[in-house]
Amino acid sequence: MRLITSPSEMRSAARIYQRGSTQRTIGLVPTMGALHEGHLSLIRASRSSCDRTVATIFVNPLQFGPNEDFTRYPRTFDQDRLLLEKSGVDILFAPSPDEMYPTPMQTLVDVPVIGARLDGASREGHFRGVATVVCKLFQIVQPDCAFFGQKDAAQVAVLRAMVRDLNFDLELVVCPTVREADGLAMSSRNRYLTGAERTEALALSRSLRAVESAIAGGERSIVDLRETLIAELTRSSALRVDYAEIVNPDTLESVTELPEQALVAVAAWVGTTRLIDNALVVVE
Ligand code: PAJ
Repeated sequence: MRLITSPSEMRSAARIYQRGSTQRTIGLVPTMGALHEGHLSLIRASRSSCDRTVATIFVNPLQFGPNEDFTRYPRTFDQDRLLLEKSGVDILFAPSPDEMYPTPMQTLVDVPVIGARLDGASREGHFRGVATVVCKLFQIVQPDCAFFGQKDAAQVAVLRAMVRDLNFDLELVVCPTVREADGLAMSSRNRYLTGAERTEALALSRSLRAVESAIAGGERSIVDLRETLIAELTRSSALRVDYAEIVNPDTLESVTELPEQALVAVAAWVGTTRLIDNALVVVE
C-alpha cells in the first residue's frame, strides 16, 4: 500500500491508473480514520467492484462546528494504516489540513436546502464542510465509484444531490450500516462512551426496530409511528433526543403519509456524545 499525503501526488497516481493500455477503475473510500468494521465494509465493496481502491483519512476541520469534537476526534493513524494495508487498499491518501487547505477556502460547496435538514439543522455548516471536502477528494482522486455508508443517511442525500447537480461522472455506492452484535451502529464516536452510556445508546437502534415492527404490523400513521420512535428513545432519561424523524430519503423532507420508501432517522446525545442511526423502510 502506498501512502500519499500531497494532493498533487495523489492526482498523478490516479492519472497513471486511468491512462494507457492498462486503464484501471478507481474506487474511493473517504474516511476520517478511527476505523472500524463499518469502514472496512466499504473497502471490501470497493475492492469487489473496482480495480484499484484509494482510501482517505482526513479529519476535516471544515465540517466541525466551533464547539464540536474536532480536537478530541479519535486519531489512530498507525492502527488504521495497518488495517487498510491488510484489507488490500492500494493507496492511502492522508493529507494534513495544510495540504488540503493551503490557503483559506474562497470556494465552498453548499447544498443549502437538503443540507439544512436533519444533522444539517443541528450542526450548522456541517454539510457545507462535508460537500466541500468530498468535492475536493473527487477532484483529486477522480474515482469511478465512491463508497459511503447508509449509517450517515443525510450525508448520502447531500452527496447524491451534489453529484447530480455538479455532473460528477462517478457512481455513488451506498453500503448497509454495520452494527455490533447488540444492534449498536458502529461509529468512531462509540469509543467516547462509558460502559453505562453504551448501554443507554442501544435505545437508538431499539427505537428504529420498534418502528420497523409497527410498520410490519400494519401501522401507517406517521403521528403514531413518530410517537413510538420518541417513546423508545425517551424511555432512557440518559438520552437527549436531537431529532427523531420520518422523512423522504432523497430530500430529507418530513412526510405526512408513509411513502413507498421512508427513512426513519434519529440523533441523540448520550452524555457528551452525539450519536445517529437510521433505518430505510420499504412499505408494501
Ligand atoms: P467517517 O465518519 O469516518 O465515515 C466514513 C464512511 O464510513 C462514511 O461513508 C460513513 O457513512 C461510513 N460508515 C461509518 N460508520 C458506518 C457503519 N457502521 N456502517 C457502514 N458504514 C459506516 O463520514 C465521514 O467520515 C466524513 O463525513 C467524510 C465523508 C469522510 C467527509 O469528511
